[in-house]
Amino acid sequence: MGHGTISDYMLTFLKEKILVILQTMFYRNRLDASGEMYRPAGLNLLTSRFNQYLIEKGYSPAWIWSEDDCRRFWSTEVNQYDNANEPQQYSSKSTELIEFMAKFWEPHVQSEYKVLELGCNAGANLDTLRLLGFTRLEGVEINPEAVKLMSSVFPDLYRHTNINVGSLEDKLPLLATDSSDVIFTMAVLMHVHPKSKRIFSEMVRVARRFIVTVEPEFANYGYVFARNYRRVFQSLGCKQLTSVTLGVDTTDDAIADYHGIILRLFSVPNVDNDLT
Ligand SMILES: C[S@@+](CC[C@H](N)C(=O)[O-])C[C@H]1O[C@@H](n2cnc3c(N)ncnc32)[C@H](O)[C@@H]1O
Repeated sequence: MGHGTISDYMLTFLKEKILVILQTMFYRNRLDASGEMYRPAGLNLLTSRFNQYLIEKGYSPAWIWSEDDCRRFWSTEVNQYDNANEPQQYSSKSTELIEFMAKFWEPHVQSEYKVLELGCNAGANLDTLRLLGFTRLEGVEINPEAVKLMSSVFPDLYRHTNINVGSLEDKLPLLATDSSDVIFTMAVLMHVHPKSKRIFSEMVRVARRFIVTVEPEFANYGYVFARNYRRVFQSLGCKQLTSVTLGVDTTDDAIADYHGIILRLFSVPNVDNDLT
C-alpha cells in the first residue's frame, strides 16, 4: 500500500467520522422521544434555526442528500434505502389529514375552485377532495408507478384529472401563470432539495388565489429539509392568512398521528381583495 493510498484512506475515514458528528448535531425528527411534536430549545433551537437558514437560502450542507439522490429516491417505485416510497401505501393511507385540511381551508376555498396538488402520488388526497365535491383537480407527480396505480385504485379520479408526470422542477415552469386557484402540498415541500428553491416562486406564479402547505418545518435529515414556510412565502410577497400547528393548536384525536405538522394558508401577491 503506497503513501497516497494510506492518506486517501485516512481522509475518507475522517470525512465519514466528521459527517457522523454533523448528522448527530443537525438531524431532527418531527417527533421527540416521547412521541410529541419536537420543539427545539436551547442549543437545539440554534441548530434547528441554522438548518432552516441554510435550506431556505438554497445551501446544501454535508449532512443532507444530493439533489440527484432525492430525485432517484422519489422517481422509482421502491428504492434501495427503505420502504418509504411505496405508492401502494400512499394509495391506502387514512384520509383524516386531508379532511382536516379541507375544514381548515373552508373559509377561503370554494369547491368550484381549480385545485392543484404537487406530489399527489397515487391520488388518495385528490380522491378525498373529489368526494368532498371538488371537481376541478390537477396533480404533479414524479413517480410514474404511483400515477399508474391511480388509474386502477381511483379510476374516476384518474379519468377526470390532469396529472403531470414529472418533477416539480421540470413541470412547474411549464404551467401557465395564474392557472390554478389553489396549490397545495402535503409532506412534499419537506422533500424539495435546497437547490430546487426556485419551485417556491413558480408556485406563487402559477397560483391565482391561495397556496396551502401541510408540512413539518423542523424535521431535518437525509432527504427531509427544514424550512419555515411562512418566511419562505412571505419573502415572495404572499400573506399568511391562517395557520394551525397539529399537536399544539389542536389535539384532535383524528389527527394525532400527525403532530408536528403545520398547516398554513397564504394569499398570493396581487390577488384581488375580494378574492380573500
Ligand atoms: C411523502 S410523499 C406524500 C404524498 C402525498 N402528498 C400524500 O400526502 O400522501 C411525497 C410525494 O412527493 C413526490 N415528490 C417528491 N419529490 C418530488 C419532485 N421533485 N417532483 C415531483 N414530485 C415529487 C413523491 O414522489 C411522493 O409522491
